[in-house]
Amino acid sequence: MRRLVSESSLRPQQLVLPMFVAEGAAEPQPIASMPGVVQHSRDSLRKAAVEAVTAGVGGLMLFGVPTDKDAVGSGATDPDGVLNRAIADLAAEVGDATVVMADLCLDEFTDHGHCGVLGGDGSVDNDATLKRYAEMAVCQASAGVHMVGPSGMMDGQVAAIRSALDVAGFVDVAILAYSAKYASAFFGPFREAVGSSLQGDRRTYQQDPANRREALREVRLDIAEGADLVMVKPALGYLDVLSDVAAMSEVPVAAYNVSGEYSMVEAAAANGWIDRRAAVLEALTSIRRAGADVVLTYWATEAAGWLT
Ligand code: PBG
Repeated sequence: MRRLVSESSLRPQQLVLPMFVAEGAAEPQPIASMPGVVQHSRDSLRKAAVEAVTAGVGGLMLFGVPTDKDAVGSGATDPDGVLNRAIADLAAEVGDATVVMADLCLDEFTDHGHCGVLGGDGSVDNDATLKRYAEMAVCQASAGVHMVGPSGMMDGQVAAIRSALDVAGFVDVAILAYSAKYASAFFGPFREAVGSSLQGDRRTYQQDPANRREALREVRLDIAEGADLVMVKPALGYLDVLSDVAAMSEVPVAAYNVSGEYSMVEAAAANGWIDRRAAVLEALTSIRRAGADVVLTYWATEAAGWLT
């Protein structure tokens, strides 16, 4: 009877698996703060992608970990760079069976670790960054990406990327906009996962955790600029924001169950303080109940296995 009247569903196809791939890695490298998650080699990435798709996961979100970084994040627009090669690998391997997505941001590629390029005064230059994002979008599309995920929170990024893609003929490449992304301490383990060089924080471009209404403005702007999906991130501390966004958005809504949310459950479970499987499924179901159509989670493959 509970199943009959259940108000929310959690299905494998609603889950997206974020994946890390490290340049030049011969073997997958464990990430200490995210037990069970690795920086993949090209080879292990392909295998893990097949495993995820076989489990029914609806999409894969790729993050590259380059060996060399510079001020403008050149590796992001190098067709032989780690992320673009990984996109091509996955497009070939599982491109007909799932949605291949890539993070579209400079932070993994810049030596200062910021999501954009810096101006003379050391602060992030929004409009100069848009030009880099436009180039990056075209590179990723040339590599075969289906959907790009701009996560840098620059003003006007969705419009700049949409127009660059269209001009280059990639009219079918979709945009999953990180619209309401907060300056969150829960991204902590991710910074280790991508070997981030960031000193300081991203408070000049990511949202203040105190703000709820502001998220709706960010979402409205992104939809007007051409976002195909909008995202709220992190998920669990922001279910109120997610619920607001789901109520007003005309496009599908995603939520990112981020690294810190993952690691907290894993740490508690490793200590025997929490029922791991029950906690994971409850967290993911809560994100769906709050209104997410799509959930990005490091548990995607495992949870998909439990759900089928
Ligand atoms: C930026 C980006 C971040 C995450 C995804 N994309 C980190 C940040 O903004 O500092 C965080 C993901 C997570 O914590 O799981 N490219």
